[in-house]
Amino acid sequence: MELRDYLRILRMRWISVAVTTAVVILAALAYSLTTTPVYQASTRLFVSTSASADINDAYQGTLYSQERVLSYTQLLTGSSLAKRTIDRLHLDMSPDELAANVTAEAAPNTVLINVHVNDTNPARAADIANGLSDEFAAFVKELETPTSGGNPTSRVVVEQRAEAPSGPILPATTRNVALGAILGLLLGIGGALLRDRLDNTVKDRSTVEDLGETGLVGTIPFDKNRQKSAAIRFADESSPSAESFRSLRTNLQFLDVDNPPRAIVITSSMPAEGKSTTAINLALALAEGGHKVLLLEGDLRRPIATKYLNVVGTVGLSNVLAHQASLDDVIQGTSSSLQVLAAGPIPPNPSELLGSETARSTIEKLRQMFDFVIIDAPPVLPVTDAAILASAADGALVIARHGKTKRDQFERAVDNLRAVNARVLGAIITMSPSRRGDAYYGYSYAYTKAPRRAKHDK
Ligand SMILES: Nc1ncnc2c1ncn2[C@@H]1O[C@H](COP(=O)(O)OP(=O)(O)OP(=O)(O)O)[C@@H](O)[C@H]1O
Ligand SMILES: [Mg+2]
Repeated sequence: MELRDYLRILRMRWISVAVTTAVVILAALAYSLTTTPVYQASTRLFVSTSASADINDAYQGTLYSQERVLSYTQLLTGSSLAKRTIDRLHLDMSPDELAANVTAEAAPNTVLINVHVNDTNPARAADIANGLSDEFAAFVKELETPTSGGNPTSRVVVEQRAEAPSGPILPATTRNVALGAILGLLLGIGGALLRDRLDNTVKDRSTVEDLGETGLVGTIPFDKNRQKSAAIRFADESSPSAESFRSLRTNLQFLDVDNPPRAIVITSSMPAEGKSTTAINLALALAEGGHKVLLLEGDLRRPIATKYLNVVGTVGLSNVLAHQASLDDVIQGTSSSLQVLAAGPIPPNPSELLGSETARSTIEKLRQMFDFVIIDAPPVLPVTDAAILASAADGALVIARHGKTKRDQFERAVDNLRAVNARVLGAIITMSPSRRGDAYYGYSYAYTKAPRRAKHDK
């Protein structure tokens, strides 16, 4: 993947990246707010050896003190001192508990020791730090006094006493939130890339071209108005949605210029991918372009096109195929110049009817009567009707619903059509996110890359 692909993925999925980041920041904040605050009080100890007037002795003494300091830091965090401190301050804790909250560090090349005591109560932290330091001074005095008596060889002075700290050292809210932001961002980006990797749906031109070995003839944007009323009023609409159908209409003229397809099946791999909506609007767009167009409701199982167009569907194709009516009797006009042949009564054997010689000759007759016959078909994978219709017609446009149609479903649909020698004229992506400038948007049929010519095309 190139950098551009990463940017495309992030632009596509920025909402989930932002949500993940926000969630982790909130979790870090919640963690900080629920953590019991810990206060730290500190003292500083000064270690000296018995004073000497001699400069050389004083230097030796300092070296001696520096060596002492290292052992003292260990004693400061040991349990003997902790026990003495507890006895001195009458604390209600075990020596190990206290020792765990004490840290001591020697400043390098000095005779100073910094002692820190953590506690959930600021005043008690200071009391313990001071009590522990005083007790340590006494402890050192005992340890360093020669058994033979005399002055102790080294001495500890509490040089700086502890005061109750004004603010806690934990939780480090700012740090936690900053870490949360970084972690959230990384998780969000990682998640977005992973989801893109795992995404096996059709979304772009290259997928269609590679899987279907056919060109992308149109991209229809998602348009919530289509759910209320499927048919676009082309006469007074110039929405991106209407434009995408006009563009699809134009692109049809580029398909096989020597033998332009006129009876065109609109199908897809699975139900609810926008076949009927696309068929109706392509037919309306062609009618708007001055062509004589018939919309044929080839879905004899779940006819919906007539409902979308507000025409009566009680008589139609199934009556013609059963020799109960002639074409002229059942073709209906609509509010625009488009004419419609409804499915008619739902027959028990749609595939059989559509595969009949009568069906073939009916489609041929319609082809003679009209400039374009747009056939709304059922999905390819569940039933064979669409493949049968496509082989009787001039070919099929195969729809993939953006982000919904699986790649293998699209591929199998195209293969199934070709298996019965139906021509795959091209692909249409429907319900594509309609933001302009989106990498997936752009419904023009740009010849960016010549699709591999289908081996199976007639
Ligand atoms: N471009 C679009 N923008 C928004 N919604 C759409 C678009 N095209 C179709 N839809 C909606 O998607 C749903 C399915 O559409 P449609 O009936 O056209 O699909 P279909 O493939 O013909 O379904 P079926 O397989 O059942 O025949 C409908 O609710 C429709 O309103
Ligand atoms: Mg339909």
